[in-house]
Amino acid sequence: MLEINNLSVSYSTEKKLVNALGPISMKIEEGGICAVIGPSGCGKSTLLHVLSGIIKSNEGQVLLGGEALNPKKHDIGFIPQNFGLLPWKSVQKNCLLSLKIKGKVIDNVMNKRIDYIQTKLGINSLKDRYPDELSGGQKQRVAIARAFIMNPDLLLMDEPFSALDALSREEAQELFIDIWNQYKTTTLFVTHSIEEAIYIGKKIVILSHCPGSIVEVIDNPLFNSVNLRNNEEYLKLSSYLRSIIKKGWKI
Ligand SMILES: Nc1ncnc2c1ncn2[C@@H]1O[C@H](COP(=O)(O)OP(=O)(O)O)[C@@H](O)[C@H]1O
Ligand SMILES: [Mg+2]
Repeated sequence: MLEINNLSVSYSTEKKLVNALGPISMKIEEGGICAVIGPSGCGKSTLLHVLSGIIKSNEGQVLLGGEALNPKKHDIGFIPQNFGLLPWKSVQKNCLLSLKIKGKVIDNVMNKRIDYIQTKLGINSLKDRYPDELSGGQKQRVAIARAFIMNPDLLLMDEPFSALDALSREEAQELFIDIWNQYKTTTLFVTHSIEEAIYIGKKIVILSHCPGSIVEVIDNPLFNSVNLRNNEEYLKLSSYLRSIIKKGWKI
């Protein structure tokens, strides 16, 4: 379980202290997947930077499995907006990077896992290429593979599919949810896409305008629905979310 209690973050700039997020409190059960949605600048990336340990100065408490979240102790996977692949390393080396950093041994079981994930994501034939030689959709698939190969305690994704064109985005979302269903990695992703939140967020947390505070939490009945975009309920839920987000803007 990921537990965030009264978390708030501010940045100190030359002129003043900028409140960027919170205070917010929320929970994601183990094996859950939660979308955090909110307008641009409301503190979504800031939240992920705290959870991944990039930002350390914050108020409040973050617990993972009942212990204070510690990036040195917990395995935290982070897929940034630009996928975060190292351009000078091949696809294969990028995929194995987090294992190497953590000093994990690649035994038979791990080799099978790597092979399964790479096959599922269709990147087997790309292993010797470099990130510059990949399309956006292919880079995204490599980033997803790398995250699941690591088998993290917590997976964080920052607007994971926003850099892709509409068709690649739908394909990548489907592949992602397919592989997530297999491993049920506890996941928090932030997005400004209502469609993305409804499709791959089991729980949807709506943030207000900056500094983001929680406006509403929704248990999403349409999570992982087949043919979601043609579903009447989807239209209803997305227009409801849109109205809440607009209300949040005025806070
Ligand atoms: N390094 C920084 N220094 C000062 N202010 C920042 C910094 N990073 C982000 N901010 C401010 O914090 C707020 C939240 O930013 P961010 O988390 O990037 O929002 P989002 O990801 O939701 O678009 C914004 O008002 C932004 O201008
Ligand atoms: Mg952002």
